[in-house]
Amino acid sequence: MSTPTTDNIIDALRPVEDPELHRSIVDLGMVRDVVVAPSGVVGLTVVLTVAGCPLRNEITNRVNGALRALPGVSDVNLNFGVMNDAERAKVREMLHGNPAATAGSGQAHGHAEGREIPFAKPGSKTRAILVSSGKGGVGKSSVTTNLAVALANAGYKVGIVDADIYGYSIPRMLGTDRDPVVIDNMLLPPEAWGVRCISIGYFVPEGQAVVWRGPMLHKALEQFLTDVYWDEPDFLLVDMPPGTGDIALSLSQYLPRAEVLVVTTPQEAAQKVARLSAAMAAKVNLPVRGIIENMSWFTGDDGKKYELFGSGGGQLLADELNVPLLAQIPLMTALREGGDDGKPIAAVAPDSEVGKAFANLAHKIAVEMKPKKVFSAALKVN
Ligand SMILES: Nc1ncnc2c1ncn2[C@@H]1O[C@H](COP(=O)(O)OP(=O)(O)O)[C@@H](O)[C@H]1O
Ligand SMILES: [Mg+2]
Repeated sequence: MSTPTTDNIIDALRPVEDPELHRSIVDLGMVRDVVVAPSGVVGLTVVLTVAGCPLRNEITNRVNGALRALPGVSDVNLNFGVMNDAERAKVREMLHGNPAATAGSGQAHGHAEGREIPFAKPGSKTRAILVSSGKGGVGKSSVTTNLAVALANAGYKVGIVDADIYGYSIPRMLGTDRDPVVIDNMLLPPEAWGVRCISIGYFVPEGQAVVWRGPMLHKALEQFLTDVYWDEPDFLLVDMPPGTGDIALSLSQYLPRAEVLVVTTPQEAAQKVARLSAAMAAKVNLPVRGIIENMSWFTGDDGKKYELFGSGGGQLLADELNVPLLAQIPLMTALREGGDDGKPIAAVAPDSEVGKAFANLAHKIAVEMKPKKVFSAALKVN
């Protein structure tokens, strides 16, 4: 059997993606020094974006898998190297644009050191969805996490911004097991269950309270949207802090086309929550698109639904705000446990009652509530 050429090797490596960047390792310039010995042993170097790249093993498996499947390859000799600053800058530019090139243009869209907020651009295909609630403890973060996973299960590209700065919980609920990697000022959001996430939780020591004030929060949020490599997700879900604060105001500037979902419980004083939510939405000038009622009932082993927290709160609130009640999520012990140990129910038990409720909710939002107005990338508004 004849041995493959170095071009054959490169071609075989083209479909291999960097597990974090989701781009071909060949296109990213990560493949070097390919040699094929007459014996069929392939030698190559893969240069990683950062030293100690946590996904080295995954890359090894992928490269080996691709090359060993090639006829004539008897063995693979893989070495690792690390990119230098200039190479990293090139990768960042390729993926994320060049901040200097856009500086000074499009002021209206908001800037962090000259880089545009991609979701504010007219051509952006990303639907930003703010998940809010009148108060804490109603399951806002649980809903955000499971909805995100359900959307990812349905094939959408999804990111979560944990904007609940003082009560951040998404990294734990989603179960991301490492901090963001930084490539030349670009943050790569950790990913779990197909969902990428950025949170203040990655930047403060475990258990430490965030004591930042307004301007710093504003800056942090801006960075979450500009310096993070989101890679044009279909959905960017934002776990909002409870209430009607400044964070909502900042976000509405960065995400001017965002839609708002309100999470409530069945016993909520609907009018009060309605007033708060409507006040928030009006203050930031964003539309409330629907209500999600959480902890609606508990289904016993006898199959009966027990309405532990009363009933009707979600519908009342929906009527009050004149928007649809999009979902009723039952109480389920496994949902809390899954949130505690990073195994969202929508990921590990999609066929459970709660799993199905989230799948239905995802379908409603993605398909039935798809915005009528299509933003054409070809239609440039300057
Ligand atoms: N449907 C549910 N069934 C069981 N436990 C739930 C449910 N929704 C939320 N929880 C639990 O209630 C607590 C509060 O939920 P969380 O999502 O953190 O609320 P919030 O973000 O609104 O403060 C968490 O321990 C969570 O696991
Ligand atoms: Mg929360």
